[in-house]
Amino acid sequence: MEIPSELIPFLRSSGRIVALTGAGVSQESGLRTFRDPMEGLWAQYRPEDLATPEAFERTPELVWEFYARRRLKAGEVQPNAGHLALAEMERHVPHFTLVTQNVDGLHQSAGSENVVELHGNITRVKCSHGCGVFSEWEEIQGKAPTCPACGAKLRPDVVWFGEMLPGDELATAVQATRTCAVFFSIGTSGLVQPAAALPLLAKQTGAVLVEINTELTPLTPSVDYFFQGKAGEILPELVRAVWG
Ligand code: APR
Repeated sequence: MEIPSELIPFLRSSGRIVALTGAGVSQESGLRTFRDPMEGLWAQYRPEDLATPEAFERTPELVWEFYARRRLKAGEVQPNAGHLALAEMERHVPHFTLVTQNVDGLHQSAGSENVVELHGNITRVKCSHGCGVFSEWEEIQGKAPTCPACGAKLRPDVVWFGEMLPGDELATAVQATRTCAVFFSIGTSGLVQPAAALPLLAKQTGAVLVEINTELTPLTPSVDYFFQGKAGEILPELVRAVWG
């Protein structure tokens, strides 16, 4: 991989960096991305058929089962070289914010600390009526459990299609984006709002945009630097070149 020579000192002197990550970053850990087709019995469903409040209303057991499997899988896998390189980057940059759309918790397992989870976390469960009760998945028994406080159904603490993002997390992500010098978009198709708007907001406010993806995306024409390839290969090389 060729790293443009001016990018290395620029990154080294950038005090404020934001990295937005998507399912592509976890792909090398063995987790499928959202746009990959599902396997086996699940092949008949699209995530959009299961990851909605309407699907949960209609068939809570099915949605619960879908997330139980994804949670199990996320618990079995390890962070990959891309996750580890981002944790390393954070140790060198005075103000580093990792904004993720992933719900698998792998950035935290890799050692990242300042993580903003825009789409929730699959290891947590919350009351579907919003009464504020949160639990760890391990504490939950049965296939359609109910809230110990109000009796409504419990659900995974993730953001479904058509739902609002958690306000605090979004505000933190927007604030970091507006003030950063460099914005990385890594392993995300850039199709789901409002996360997809963050790179363009960064650009409007003067940041340098860097994208890492195996494919070109709708964002690619707008970025300053595009590295085509796997996050688990490009990120370690970049971090070594800049801070190694
Ligand atoms: N390295 C870098 N990029 C990769 C890799 C890899 N190893 N593997 C796949 N990619 C890229 C794909 O080319 C694609 O652009 O990662 C992207 C994954 O895109 P999506 O599956 O759409 O995932 P994401 O962008 O995170 O989806 C956003 O949509 O379904 C909702 O809420 C869900 O958080 C999710 C959101």
